[in-house]
Amino acid sequence: MSLILTTKTVPGADAARPAAECLAAGGLVAFPTETVYGLGADGTNGEAVARLYAAKGRPSFNPLIAHLPTLEAAQRVAVFSETALKLAQAFWPGPLTLVLPKAPGCPVSELATAGLDTVAVRIPAHPVALAILKALGRPIVAPSANRSGHVSPTTAAHVLHDLDGRIDLIVDGGPVNVGVESTIIGCTGAPVLLRPGGTPRDEIEGVLGISLGRIETAPGHDNPLAPGMLESHYAPKAAVRLNATDVKNDEALLAFGEALPGARPERTLNLSPRGDLIEAAANLFGHLRTLDDTATRTIAVMPIPSHGLGEAINDRLRRAAADRPS
Ligand code: TXA
Ligand code: MG
Repeated sequence: MSLILTTKTVPGADAARPAAECLAAGGLVAFPTETVYGLGADGTNGEAVARLYAAKGRPSFNPLIAHLPTLEAAQRVAVFSETALKLAQAFWPGPLTLVLPKAPGCPVSELATAGLDTVAVRIPAHPVALAILKALGRPIVAPSANRSGHVSPTTAAHVLHDLDGRIDLIVDGGPVNVGVESTIIGCTGAPVLLRPGGTPRDEIEGVLGISLGRIETAPGHDNPLAPGMLESHYAPKAAVRLNATDVKNDEALLAFGEALPGARPERTLNLSPRGDLIEAAANLFGHLRTLDDTATRTIAVMPIPSHGLGEAINDRLRRAAADRPS
């Protein structure tokens, strides 16, 4: 059994010390961020990082995101270009990850960066995550706290379901508020969108005054720039049918806006009855898990607009629909 610590103070001060002590001793701690729950290890401890890959059951060593509490701390890990600084100042703390050249003497373990000469960094906008980061005083590397290939966790219960007994501690800070992972921008040359996520593209383009290139990573195809995107991610057990304009007899429905006629209420969940993309992102992974638990064979998903957070939502749904282990 993993130990669960429910934090009762808003800044998570009660949980920060035991969580940091556990991490400093090489332990694995799941904690809330604003995007999804992360599974943290001390980023400077190669052995702890190796345990983290094993606990998730990651088939290959995909590089991890290093989480930091301040820009100064991030600058000891990575080299910031002018563009990177602009993005950091505009969006941190927040759901944005920057892939940057490693700083000389970067303390993050080679295993966590998969031997690359770049490192992914972000400052999460969550009081519990920040309190733990400050208490530890070292970078925390943290992938989403799910078994590899599963849907990312947005509550402590999801983490427990996937990782109970495989990790040391779960800090329960309630449900997260964004619901999809951070947007990843490659910033080693001209900025490119490596993964759409919680910070919408148009906000980033607004700050930079340019339109972002997108490194398209078709599910199942290798891409050295965004190595993690090739995994069979976000896959529920049920098949997923996108852009559904009708519901078949045996299907569950993931609705958006007004639900399709003929949908069975006991098998329908609505991402946002009022058609709000922020609300839909927050509900996405939880609703996929709940519908999957009904043991339905197929989840039909209504069309979701592609602007704003819709780009990230549609990206995750495409992966859920495409990656069918045979
Ligand atoms: O919102 C999030 O980003 C969450 C929370 C916990 O912070 N974390 C998360 O981590 O989604 P994970 O491991 O599920 O996704 C990290 C992604 C992977 O696709 C990985 O390949 C990519 O970041 N990545 C990490 N380091 C990289 C690097 N140096 N170059 C390119 N991609 C990198
Ligand atoms: Mg993940």
